Amino acid sequence: MPATIVLGGQWGDEGKGKITDALAGESGMVVRANGGSNAGHTISTDQGVFKMHLVPSGILSPGTTCVVGAGVVIDPVQLASELADLRARGIDTSALVISDRAHVVLPFHSEIDRGEERLRGESPIGTTLRGIGPAYADKVSRRGMRMADLCDERQARQRLERDFDARNRLLEGYYESASVDTAASIDQLLGAAELLAPFVGHAEDVVQDALDRGTRVIVECAQGAMLDIDYGSYPFVTSSSPTAAGACQGAGIAPSQIERVIGVFKAYSSRVGSGPFPTELFDDTGNEIRERGHEYGTTTGRARRIGWFDAVAARRVTRLNGVTDIALTLLDVLDTFPTIQIATGYELDGANIRTVPTISADYDRVTPVLAPIDGWLEDITAVRSYEDMPVRAREYVSRIGGLAGAPVSMVGVGPDREQLVPVETRTPVAAR
Ligand code: GDP
Ligand code: IMO
Ligand code: MG
Repeated sequence: MPATIVLGGQWGDEGKGKITDALAGESGMVVRANGGSNAGHTISTDQGVFKMHLVPSGILSPGTTCVVGAGVVIDPVQLASELADLRARGIDTSALVISDRAHVVLPFHSEIDRGEERLRGESPIGTTLRGIGPAYADKVSRRGMRMADLCDERQARQRLERDFDARNRLLEGYYESASVDTAASIDQLLGAAELLAPFVGHAEDVVQDALDRGTRVIVECAQGAMLDIDYGSYPFVTSSSPTAAGACQGAGIAPSQIERVIGVFKAYSSRVGSGPFPTELFDDTGNEIRERGHEYGTTTGRARRIGWFDAVAARRVTRLNGVTDIALTLLDVLDTFPTIQIATGYELDGANIRTVPTISADYDRVTPVLAPIDGWLEDITAVRSYEDMPVRAREYVSRIGGLAGAPVSMVGVGPDREQLVPVETRTPVAAR
């Protein structure tokens, strides 16, 4: 049974958690593929609002196995506390598998993250300070620690003491930061490792066995494709590959096993942290969208930057990731606007350009070519069938699909589970 990838089509926070949760009910497995606790995936159910950072967004669907893949970087203390919080709210977390190959985010990674941001002076990336970049850097430098290493208590303690010692010297000497409390941190880490150890195993085999059995598998990415380390607006990116290719690698699934790639896009754009954002709005319209969409970070609480839908960036993402269909979320947020804009092109130094500049200083200077669209000026939050959607809203949806280069298969009209409208009603969403 082939797998489905759910990836963010913009700069993150597109509603991947909600879409993954919606598909999880009809799937046997959800595998988180990349990123770490920089992610914040919100799921709104009648049991309340859940914010996932490391736990896959399938955990609220009973009977769905949730896998944290090898491509994820895990803060063990955060993961243990996230699981405890879920259990305290009555959620069964027993069907969890954590890859023994996933790398560990250690407390000094967050301090190095903070130190690096300080050294960037006037132009910080605006990272989440969760230690993600330094943890991936250690992985690629081949000095990282994996979950398998952490769960081997005797060796882990020795290894951690050595690593903390070396990094504390770096923190004090190079970053001029305070050192991390070695003894307390190691005890906390080993305590978390003990809680997580029963779930740690060969995740890639678990995933492949499930595919062999014909289980429907969803691969959940974190972040967004415009934050990709290779194809995003470097250096204003994250340190992993939140792409279809990265999803395969991080989940332990071959590209030939992928049947469907769902690009999750907001009906407008948002971005957290620094970096080019051509359609950014600095006016009351931007503020109104931010308030209507509750655009404040799930992980850091930061106000998200807001802009119109960027079809140039979207088309790039659908092409590079082979997006088969689009989940268009937060359409309801645009209910009150008489005119809505879409960026259909870019101008740089007076010339039309058809692609995204490689140098971020050039990307910063790009101005968007905006196409105005008449708004529908109706509340769509109660709409449950695409036919009942106002004509102008449907026109906006199909315009986005046409410009982005992939059909829209579902539309979000509110945060709740049931506020998701399939665009073709004849076939269930997950079967397409
Ligand atoms: P993720 O990181 O991609 O999972 O997205 P986040 O959870 O960080 O941010 C998306 C926000 O939008 C969350 O607060 C969701 O509850 C909310 N949301 C998702 N879909 C919709 C929708 O269709 N309409 C509205 N109004 N909110 C939505
Ligand atoms: P989800 O999965 C939005 C952004 C940060 C910063 C840049 C690098 O919820 O969509 P990092 O801490 O990764 O080194 O920060 O990436 N960023 C996100 N923005 N949603 C996310 O995750 C993000 N994860 C990282 O704001 O600009
Ligand atoms: Mg988020």
